[in-house]
Order: sequence, then C-alpha cells, then structure tokens
Amino acid sequence: MTVRRILETERLRLRPYNEADLSELIPLVGAREVAATTLRIPHPYTEQDARAFLLLAQEPARIWLATTLRSDGRQIGGIGLTVDEQHQHAELGYWLGVAYWGQGYATEAAREMLRYGFEDLRLHRIFASHFKHNPASGRVLRKVGMRYEGCQREHVLKWDQFIDSELYGILRREWENHE
Ligand SMILES: CC(C)(COP(=O)(O)OP(=O)(O)OC[C@H]1O[C@@H](n2cnc3c(N)ncnc32)[C@H](O)[C@@H]1OP(=O)(O)O)[C@@H](O)C(=O)NCCC(=O)NCCS
Repeated sequence: MTVRRILETERLRLRPYNEADLSELIPLVGAREVAATTLRIPHPYTEQDARAFLLLAQEPARIWLATTLRSDGRQIGGIGLTVDEQHQHAELGYWLGVAYWGQGYATEAAREMLRYGFEDLRLHRIFASHFKHNPASGRVLRKVGMRYEGCQREHVLKWDQFIDSELYGILRREWENHE
C-alpha cells in the first residue's frame, strides 16, 4: 500500500531521504525553533538522531519525505504521513527550516501529501495535531481543507510542560469536494 515515490508541486520536490542528506538535514532540523513546536524532534539534534530517523523512515508505514526546492535541490524541511493500514488513516506531520517560513511552502507540501494519501494510497482519513501556541500550523491545516476536531487538553508533555494539542482531520469524501 505504501508506495514510495517522488512528489512534485509547483516549487517543491518531496522525495525519500538518503544518507547524503544528513549534513544538510542536521543544522536545518536542529534549530530550537523547529523542535519547540514539534512533538518528536529532539533538541539538540545529533547525528545519531538523524541516523535513527533515516532508519525509521525506511519502515513501510512511514512515508517521510525531504521537502526540497525544485529550483536547486536544496532541502528546506520535511513532511510525512504515518499510515495505519488497519484503519486506512494516516497522521500528517511537517516542519520547515526557519529561513523558509512564511512563504507558503508548508501549505504547498501538505496539499500534495493529502492528494498523495487520498488519491494514490486510497486512505479514508488523514489527521494532524499542532500545539495550541503554534497557530501558523493550524492555519496550514485549515488552508488544505482540514476540519478542526477539538482540543486535547494538556495532551502532550513537552520540555516539562503539559501542552494543549489541537486536532484536525479530513475524510476522503471531504477532500474530493474541497479540491
Ligand atoms: C508551522 C510551519 C510548518 C508553517 O510553515 P510555513 O511555510 O511558514 O506555512 P505557510 O506559509 O504555508 O502558511 C502559514 C500560515 O500561517 C499564518 N501565520 C503565521 N504565523 C501566524 C500566527 N502567529 N498566527 C496566525 N497565523 C499565522 C501565515 O500568515 C500563513 O497563512 P496565510 O497564507 O493565510 O497568510 C513552520 O512555521 C514550521 O516548520 N514550524 C516549526 C515546526 C512545526 O511547528 N511544525 C508543525 C508541527 S504541527
């Protein structure tokens, strides 16, 4: 079910990671600002973390792709779907290097991942969560057609603080009507 491939949008190429990506990946994902609003990105981010990530990214259920610029191949972030085949659903997650925020890249990448999930993987539902104090991510999710499903109060423990987690989701039939 989880067919790996290269996905392209107007400005972006979303493609599988390889060993050669490590040197560009580590400083980009290693910024404190990126770790601060994500659940699973360690900080400080070490080469060992990056190697563990590359290994995990090979698991069939994890469609985790490097977000790169089509113009020059540069990595600017990462995006992924973690698929649960039993329920035909997947969780969407994404991050961008700080220098690339505010230019619509996350929306462009997320929109393509939804297309891939619904059209190519034939998923039934895609969901995502963001920390309450990360409204930019909520805006991305709404722009790609996701519906707000509620607040999971103090759902996650991040850097010694319990954080509210905002849940969003979209069903295939809603995505088909939204496009
Ligand atoms: C969240 C993140 C992916 C957004 O990426 P991005 O490329 O800047 O997002 P986009 O430009 O596609 O869209 C951001 C939207 O949020 C809006 N926005 C930005 N800051 C905002 C804020 N403080 N409050 C409300 N909206 C905000 C922008 O105006 C834009 O909406 P618009 O197009 O209607 O103007 C990026 O900031 C990031 O990687 N952060 C760190 C990692 C992270 O939080 N990942 C998501 C985990 S859920």
